[in-house]
Amino acid sequence: MNQTGGSHSVQRCENCANEIGELDPAAVCPRCGGLLELEHPRVEDAATLRGRFVARRSLMMGPEHSGVWRYRELVLPSAQTNEIVSHPEGNTPLLARSAVSAWAGVERLLMKHEGHNPTGSFKDRGMTVAMTQARRTSARAVACASTGNTSASLAAYAALAGLPALVFVPAGKVALGKIAQTIAYGARTLLVRGNFDDCLTLAREASEALGIHLLNSVNPFRLEGQKTIVLEMLEQLDWDAPDWIALPAGNLGNTAAFGKALREARAAGLISRVPRILAVQASGAAPFAQSFRTGFAERLRVDPDTIATAIRIGAPASWDRAVRTINETNGVVTSVSDAEILEAKAVIDAAGVGCEPASAASVAGVRQLKARGLIERDSRVVAVLTGHVLKDPGAVVTYHQETEPRPEHANRPIEIDARVSQVERILSGKLPQGG
Ligand code: F0G
Repeated sequence: MNQTGGSHSVQRCENCANEIGELDPAAVCPRCGGLLELEHPRVEDAATLRGRFVARRSLMMGPEHSGVWRYRELVLPSAQTNEIVSHPEGNTPLLARSAVSAWAGVERLLMKHEGHNPTGSFKDRGMTVAMTQARRTSARAVACASTGNTSASLAAYAALAGLPALVFVPAGKVALGKIAQTIAYGARTLLVRGNFDDCLTLAREASEALGIHLLNSVNPFRLEGQKTIVLEMLEQLDWDAPDWIALPAGNLGNTAAFGKALREARAAGLISRVPRILAVQASGAAPFAQSFRTGFAERLRVDPDTIATAIRIGAPASWDRAVRTINETNGVVTSVSDAEILEAKAVIDAAGVGCEPASAASVAGVRQLKARGLIERDSRVVAVLTGHVLKDPGAVVTYHQETEPRPEHANRPIEIDARVSQVERILSGKLPQGG
């Protein structure tokens, strides 16, 4: 067990290749302002690594019980066990549900449900690493801009670390469950009159001016944690990589993290084949999908609008590294309409799985690529569900109870008097369904 931590990693600028130390708290490259990426010391051979990962699965307590820190050699090898700020997180299930497979037209579709994380989204995987690093570098406070999930996660992990937290969220555009969590976990919550992109600009400027540690996914330590979605999924598949991994895409941090995870897993000999990445945006917030159609000729920016508020983002920050992911994995970027997102969500929800709207974009994207002939009926596909159904109760109520005309999958509750005769009439179909 790695009690004392291994040798140190470096942070390298993706733009100018400038190198800074692992414990340098700079938010971006001090020379050119480019995004930083972590590079870890060489790891042991694949068999040794796999053996360690398996052995840690039997632990009941401690950081290595976490589905992030189980992979610590590939995440942050120098972190000492007593420095780790872990809930724990990860260890999320890989689910097969025939109703969802049938809807998407892909028989071997699996869903990696990141809504099973402690605050209900994949953000906890990145946050445990970024918060660990914030403490290692003696941060006095932490901040983020967010569409809601990052803020909920940051608030919870800041409470765990005992650090003051400041969050910037777009006023009126954050789902109820997420804003409730952020407030409840004790973060100072600022409702910014603007969209997520305005929030991120403000968070960057304020962090720089006030010396606060910024924990958005521009922070390279976040991506190290988010890589474990892929590592854990590959381990669950006994390191036999699927044909495709589909995920919703907003600020593109996760798309970037998935590419890095696959690159490193391949280099370490953990997998012999790299799956294709399918990044799915909402059509009202799809600059990356639009740019993909022209071979990423231009970095686009749009005025975003979608029901999937988690991915309501017009100027994604991790653009270049996400382009690298798509290029290296022979990936595809597409967009799906709000109606398609809501239909996919209704099918996932009714299968008893449940997810928030943005998460369902991954399954809607799989269905679209199947229809376009890019994904086969017998392809092995993993769609990542990024957040829990309770994150956005408003979307559920609107879809099932308030939308006219009534959507195909609507499940309308029926108000009745407290009389058995009324129950009988409903069961025998005499009252209109969804009255
Ligand atoms: N799905 C959910 C549920 C999200 O919350 C996010 C991003 C994404 C997908 C997209 O991931 O940004 O890495 O491309 N949520 C961020 C937030 C922006 O602030 O919670 P991405």
